[in-house]
Amino acid sequence: MKLILGMLVFTMALPVFGQDAAKGAKLFKKCVACHGKKAEGKKSQKAPRLAGQHSWYIVTQLIAFKTKKRKNPPMLPFVRKLTPEQMADLGAYLESIK
Ligand code: HEC
Repeated sequence: MKLILGMLVFTMALPVFGQDAAKGAKLFKKCVACHGKKAEGKKSQKAPRLAGQHSWYIVTQLIAFKTKKRKNPPMLPFVRKLTPEQMADLGAYLESIK
């Protein structure tokens, strides 16, 4: 019962949880200094290409950075304040561009 309830809440939360590529595009303005205008990556910053990456991968990595499971000191100030909704928006945006 608990599981079914949990799944129900999860399913209902999804649309609320963003995945709004337009919002993601706005949020990504803070990331372009390192990852490039079109998320093409920047070798000088050692920042990889993100364009076209799977949304779920973007989100899992952002969570890993925020929780310091994956170490990335230069990016920490930028991910520290991201909410799960904003991470989903960023993922949706990055997945949508090439
Ligand atoms: C100060 C420079 C800098 C900024 C600003 C920055 N990043 Fe990064 N980012 C990096 C670097 C460097 C790496 C590679 C880290 C590593 O080697 O593990 C990286 C890695 C990533 C990865 C993992 C990619 C992979 O293939 O595993 C994601 C996702 C990511 N950044 C998203 C973002 C988002 C979204 C923003 C804006 C909120 C952002 N970054 C802002 C420097 C930056």
